[in-house]
Amino acid sequence: MKKILFLSFISCLIVANQTKIFKRCELAQEMHKADGYEGISLGDWMCLAYRESQVNTKKKYENAVGSTDYGLFQINSHYWCNDDKSHSKNLGHMNCSELLSNYIFLTILCVKMMVLSSGGIANW
Ligand SMILES: *[C@@H]1O[C@H](CO)[C@@H](O)[C@H](O)[C@H]1NC(C)=O
Repeated sequence: MKKILFLSFISCLIVANQTKIFKRCELAQEMHKADGYEGISLGDWMCLAYRESQVNTKKKYENAVGSTDYGLFQINSHYWCNDDKSHSKNLGHMNCSELLSNYIFLTILCVKMMVLSSGGIANW
């Protein structure tokens, strides 16, 4: 019995670290949970996530200038999160690795803050 518990604990850890490709409804639900779309339609939010990351929470893209884009909305480390690598303003007060989490509530809050502070989705 103990062995089984241990094994299922391990498989939970593995699952938690796996890449998650969000289904459309799941993503819509998460956006909805985070309360409000900041003047952007749900369709545009979804489109953004599809275009930027193919709704893959683990997507990382290294820019030529030395910063990296993280996660579902490809949030840039130069301005919005700290990854100890690029010179970051860290306006989102976040560790970039949090933006790769399958728990996307924080990612959504960060992305909304970006939208609010810069007048729309012009950041992308
Ligand atoms: C961010 O989190 C990762 C993983 O938990 C950790 O290794 C890293 O040191 C953290 N970086 C910062 C800037 O806090």
